[in-house]
Amino acid sequence: MTNNAPDTALSRDGFPAGFTWGTSTSSYQIEGARHEDGRVDSIWDTFSARPGRIRDGSSGAIACDHYHRWPGDLDIARALGTNAYRFSIAWPRIFGDGVTANAKGLDFYERLVDGMLERDLQPWPTLYHWDLPQALQDRGGWMARDIVHRFTDYVDAVTRRLGDRVAQWITHNEPWCTAMHGHMDGMHAPGIRDVASALQASHHVLLSHGLAVPVIRANVPGARVGAALSLHPIRPASDSPADTAAAHRHDGLRNRWFLDPLFGKGYPVDVLDAVRDAAPRIEAGDLEAIAVRTDFTGLNYYFPEVIAAAPGEGPLHARVVHREGVERTAFGWEVAPEGMAQLLERIHAQYGPPAIYVTENGSCYDDVVQDGRVHDAQRTSYLVRHLAALRDTIERGVPVAGYFAWSLLDNFEWAEGYTRRFGLTHVDFSTQERILKDSGKWYQAFLGGPAGVSKFPQV
Ligand code: FCB
Repeated sequence: MTNNAPDTALSRDGFPAGFTWGTSTSSYQIEGARHEDGRVDSIWDTFSARPGRIRDGSSGAIACDHYHRWPGDLDIARALGTNAYRFSIAWPRIFGDGVTANAKGLDFYERLVDGMLERDLQPWPTLYHWDLPQALQDRGGWMARDIVHRFTDYVDAVTRRLGDRVAQWITHNEPWCTAMHGHMDGMHAPGIRDVASALQASHHVLLSHGLAVPVIRANVPGARVGAALSLHPIRPASDSPADTAAAHRHDGLRNRWFLDPLFGKGYPVDVLDAVRDAAPRIEAGDLEAIAVRTDFTGLNYYFPEVIAAAPGEGPLHARVVHREGVERTAFGWEVAPEGMAQLLERIHAQYGPPAIYVTENGSCYDDVVQDGRVHDAQRTSYLVRHLAALRDTIERGVPVAGYFAWSLLDNFEWAEGYTRRFGLTHVDFSTQERILKDSGKWYQAFLGGPAGVSKFPQV
């Protein structure tokens, strides 16, 4: 099969019965409605306002205006034939000041969830997809231990309100990004660059997950809970001992730093040795709390990394090598469906969660609208090849139970603003017009569409 020739033999029937098929989004990237119904600022409102932090100088203040257009957006998810929808709840709509729950914010998510249920879409909320209330950042954010209690208060309020209709809960999206992009390289809000702060933040994110799981279970009988991790297959740039060791250290912070404690193995000793004084403060009982049993592990998969030894570079003395001659998306991310298969097999073999869901996977290309259509053959090819790899992995016995394409809509891509389009649906950010791309039509045909909906709705 060549890169752009989709595997026509790929069929939904090749996946297990009851497989979860979805798309994924997050609150700050799509909702807009910055100050509506009591929403207060998040760290992303603050960060976006700082010159030079967002490539196109934009913010999520309006984004896809999903806060007002959600019925049409859910219609698209239904017309695709998906049976689930992953979204995130904006903490600043619920607990702006960290003390009082905002009823109007909860009302919004209740309406949204009811809208999903009416369309036969199983709701998959993520409780934290990076939009921390600024008021909590002002008290130290993820670097301050008190945040774990603020998080469980917020989770308690949300799960009390929605627990009678939502069974699946994702605590955190990509703890690596919250910790490292937020506090080590400063590419994301709150834009801090300090290794010790990043590692302390990572510990508090993991601890808040561990403490939130029992809160969710208490409020939602029969709840299924997990976290969504961004993981990367890591290869050494050469087989020299130095590169091999560097790749192992890099894998330690990228992958094992999160997987190991979540599965009761504690933090990896090689990483603790490498970071020395920057290691986080851990209190008695923390590691037991983090290792709470979960019902599934979410994998957000985008790309592999090749690593070389680089003495003096960062806490790990390692750097990412840009390999020439490999297929890449417009973002520069290497396209490697087999990398997803490798990760799924590794999670299964080394950690053994009861189920794995691919909670994000997708690609960014420079789409062009031509006569009201978007011919995004590369994205279709990306999707087809990743689904084929997924099918093969399941056939080899890895318990993958669902797949969520990132993303339902083009949206605010964090530090890249609106310059990176990942959607199956094109969004014109000046008119808010939605156009289902060819990749979305392919996904729709693959899924067979929902009963009774044969045509993409006019939106
Ligand atoms: C992931 C994020 C998601 C989106 C995709 C492209 O790291 O979870 O919000 O930005 O990348």
